[in-house]
Amino acid sequence: MRGMMLAGGAGTRLFPLSRVASKQLQAVYDKPMIYYPLATLMSAGITEIHLISSPADLPIFERVLGDGRQWGVELSYGVQPHPGGIAEAVLIGEEFVRDEPFALVLGDNIFHGPVGLDTEVANFDSGAVIWGYPVDDPQRYGVVEIDNSGSVLSIEEKPQKPLSELAVPGLYVYDGTAVSRAKQLAPSERGELEITDLNMSFLGDGELRAVKLGRDTTWLDSGTHESLLESSNFVASVEEDHGYKVGCLEEVAFKMGFVSGEEVARTIAAMPPSPYRTYCERAILG
Ligand code: TTP
Repeated sequence: MRGMMLAGGAGTRLFPLSRVASKQLQAVYDKPMIYYPLATLMSAGITEIHLISSPADLPIFERVLGDGRQWGVELSYGVQPHPGGIAEAVLIGEEFVRDEPFALVLGDNIFHGPVGLDTEVANFDSGAVIWGYPVDDPQRYGVVEIDNSGSVLSIEEKPQKPLSELAVPGLYVYDGTAVSRAKQLAPSERGELEITDLNMSFLGDGELRAVKLGRDTTWLDSGTHESLLESSNFVASVEEDHGYKVGCLEEVAFKMGFVSGEEVARTIAAMPPSPYRTYCERAILG
């Protein structure tokens, strides 16, 4: 299965930080934000990845991430000229998708702990899969209601009276029909092709499932100054308490067998002297 990462958007809530660079290039503790969703895709065994961003930011992503060879993955890039909505990415990525199933992750979503994307990648057949994350304030999110078998009963955007406590994070798996479905969508009142409408299309055909995340998984969306700080604090405390790094792409690539010991050693040798390099030497090269 291939993967897409969405790293465009206006980033208005992060102004004036977002004047420097797009939201997904901001620091989350010791790494650019985009490292974390990239690690989520790679940890599920996905090696062909298409990143979509704005014309201004795409060259920076290309400079920071390159063609992915250093992590044993194939990165390609697509332009979203204006923030026309998350579902628009599916249209921009049409050639990359080639009518086949794909995973889509939002570039400002951080997952830590078991997500189950690897299981979905291995067993996916058709339809669409979304995730549900228990929160105390579901009114602020897209909310999914599911039955015991994981079939979705309803999804609602920022409901006043939520039918469940499960928020929908920015991670989705779609079959190849997602492109033709996205082509049928009309822009919402705010002028965007909404991902909820794409999910509703699958739901209408009884083809939408949801994976419920447990309390041992953390989901963070880093779109505001508060949540950006919260994400940095979370990563820092995991790394300090447990002595391992979250979202270290060299480590994920080596563990997944995408690169050999020799290859990763070469990548590490090219890093400037830094705590990150010292960590890679200790954790990967031993
Ligand atoms: P949002 O956080 O909903 O929107 P935004 O990034 O434009 O930020 P703000 O609301 O502060 O202006 O977007 C969620 C994710 O989807 C984020 O990673 C950016 C990405 N995105 C795109 O890549 N293209 C788009 O057209 C939109 C709307 C979002």
